[in-house]
Amino acid sequence: MKGNQQALVSPVVAFAHVLVVVVTALVLVWLLHFREGLAFNTHIKPKIFNIHPLLMIVGFILLGGEAILAYKTVPGARKIQKRTHLTLHLVALLTGLIGTFAVFKYHQDLSIPHFYTLHSWVGLITIILYGLQWLYSIFTFAFPHTKSSTRKKVAPWHIFGGIIIFILGICAALTGLVEKFTFSKLQREQEALVMNFTGLMIVLFSITVGAGVLLPRIN
Ligand code: HEM
Ligand code: HEM
Repeated sequence: MKGNQQALVSPVVAFAHVLVVVVTALVLVWLLHFREGLAFNTHIKPKIFNIHPLLMIVGFILLGGEAILAYKTVPGARKIQKRTHLTLHLVALLTGLIGTFAVFKYHQDLSIPHFYTLHSWVGLITIILYGLQWLYSIFTFAFPHTKSSTRKKVAPWHIFGGIIIFILGICAALTGLVEKFTFSKLQREQEALVMNFTGLMIVLFSITVGAGVLLPRIN
């Protein structure tokens, strides 16, 4: 890769990594310091809910974003980049499913109805599309039987679809944060500031991931 192109990729992906650390720290401060903490089997039901934003933001969004960036961040052969890409996407998908199960269980335990908000609809559509994209991509790009001409034809659609699904995930995370802010009747206190700043950092992260995709590969 030419020096000037490398010079562009490096700061963008480095900034993306910094944002991963910043957003993770903010989410942990929010849930452990301002909220009730985290647990799956407990009579303190908000602890079960709290697993949802943790796994959706840190697992689904941040790891999913890192998976997308793998072709720009992982040194070495393309095969290794591809393996990292598909494995990180699998971990993101699994954490997303556990995170969705957590909020489903919270609703079930407290007899709150399911899927009645814009957030829950966008969220559910995102998870389903993400799962389908992952399965389809495994068959197309990971199994040796697929013709290379087919892979070439599918690749632009895979990238387009991947970016759309990632943006849907960002929409779900932002609507989720705003919804929780409203449900908790927060106004201008410190917790509100941490939550809203987390949202802003997530927006910035999505921009770095988008820019990372547009920039040329490292090999
Ligand atoms: C990509 C990220 C996210 C996805 C895919 C997602 C998905 C979902 C889904 C499918 C539900 C419905 C569960 C049910 O009805 O049983 C839900 C509920 C909920 N989520 Fe998220 N979520 C995400 C991020 C967040 C974040 C960051 C927050 C912030 C606190 C949040 C807050 C909520 C709240 C308050 C509910 C319960 C009310 C409702 O159903 O809308 N979510 N989420
Ligand atoms: C839901 C999960 C997935 C999403 C959101 C996603 C998204 C993306 C995105 C945005 C890119 C462009 C990256 C860049 O050019 O820098 C990409 C490239 C690629 N992905 Fe995925 N991906 C997913 C799963 C998979 C899986 C499971 C495989 C299987 C091996 C795979 C194989 C590839 C390949 C081979 C490329 C390079 C395509 C090319 O330009 O030739 N992806 N993916």
